[in-house]
Amino acid sequence: MKLVTIIGSGLIGRSWALVFISGGLSVKIYDKQPGMAASALSSIRQQVLELQQKNMLRGDLTASQQLSLLSACDDLHMAVEGAFFIQECVFEDLEVKQNVFLDIEGLVGSDVILSSSTSCLVPSAVFSKVQDQRRCLVAHPVNPPYLVKLVELVPHPHTTSSVMDAAHALMSQVGQVPVRLSRELDGFALNRIQMAVIAESWRLVQDGFISVKDVDLVMSEGLGMRYAFIGPMETMHLNAPEGLGDYMKRYGPGIHRVLSSFGPTPDFSGDQAKDIIKDMAELVPREQLSARTERRDQLLSELAQIKKMP
Ligand SMILES: NC(=O)c1ccc[n+]([C@@H]2O[C@H](COP(=O)([O-])OP(=O)(O)OC[C@H]3O[C@@H](n4cnc5c(N)ncnc54)[C@H](O)[C@@H]3O)[C@@H](O)[C@H]2O)c1
Repeated sequence: MKLVTIIGSGLIGRSWALVFISGGLSVKIYDKQPGMAASALSSIRQQVLELQQKNMLRGDLTASQQLSLLSACDDLHMAVEGAFFIQECVFEDLEVKQNVFLDIEGLVGSDVILSSSTSCLVPSAVFSKVQDQRRCLVAHPVNPPYLVKLVELVPHPHTTSSVMDAAHALMSQVGQVPVRLSRELDGFALNRIQMAVIAESWRLVQDGFISVKDVDLVMSEGLGMRYAFIGPMETMHLNAPEGLGDYMKRYGPGIHRVLSSFGPTPDFSGDQAKDIIKDMAELVPREQLSARTERRDQLLSELAQIKKMP
C-alpha cells in the first residue's frame, strides 16, 4: 500500500489526510507538538463518520475502510519511513519549513517527493536547505481541500518534469484538480487572481462607491454564479457570438480603459480600513463566524455534488 506522510496536523494537514485516505492511500500524520497528531487522528475519525452520515464521503471506500488507512506518529523518522510522498503542512514560517525539509531529507531516499502546502512562499525559498531539489515542489491547496479540489503545483527551478507528472497523477488519483505553473511566481496563480479581486473590492468600498454588503453580492450573486463552472477566459469566449477574438474586438478597448482607471494598491490600514472591518463585523458578528463557516462548507459540498453532474 502506498504511503503519504503528512507533516503538521493543523487545519490543512487534517484536510489533506481526509483527501488522501479517500483516494485509498495509507496516511501517517506527524506533528512536532506532542499529542497533536493523536488529537488530529480522533478529529479526522469523527469527520469521516459525519461525512458518511451526511452522504458526503469522497471516494469508493467506506468510512471504516478509509479510517483503517490512517495512523499517527510522534517520531519523525518513523513517520516518513516507507513514504513515497511527503506533504508538509506546518506553520507558514520560512525558517520552520526550511528546517523541516532539511531534517526530512536526511531521513528519506532520493526518490521520495517533498511537497509543501505553503500559500505564500516560493519553492526556491522553502527548499533552499535541501540538497537534491529535483524532487521538490509546492502543492498549494485551497481551504478546505476536501471540498475545494484545486491544487496548484509549483516547481522549484530544479524540479524535474517527472516529479511534476507524478504529483499531478497523485492529485488526480485522489480526486483533486491539479493545475501546473511552469515556474515559480510570488502568489502563484490563485492568490494573484484573488488579490486582484480583493484590491478592487477594497478600493470600491474605501472610495465610497459601494457598501461592504453589496460588493460581496456582486461576487456571490453575480460573477461567482458562473465562475463556479467556467473561468474568466471561457466566460468571455461565450459572451460574444464568435468567441474570444470577437469579444476582444467589441470589448477590449473598454476593458483597457477601465483597467487604466484602477487606483493604487490599498495598504489595508488606517481609518478607512477600520470602517470596512467594522461594517463586516456588523454583517457577520464574531459569534456567528463558526456557524457561517459551517454554512459555507455545507454549501460547498452541495456545489461539489452539482459539479459532478455531466
Ligand atoms: N489555512 C488555510 O486557509 C491554508 C490554505 C492553503 C494553504 N495553507 C498552508 O498550509 C500550511 C499549514 O496551515 P494551517 O492553516 O494548517 O496551520 P495550523 O496552524 O492550523 O497547523 C500547523 C501545524 O503544524 C505543526 N507544526 C509546527 N511546526 C512543526 C514542525 N517543525 N514539525 C511538525 N509539525 C509542526 C503545528 O503543531 C500545527 O499543528 C501553511 O503553510 C499555510 O500557508 C493554509
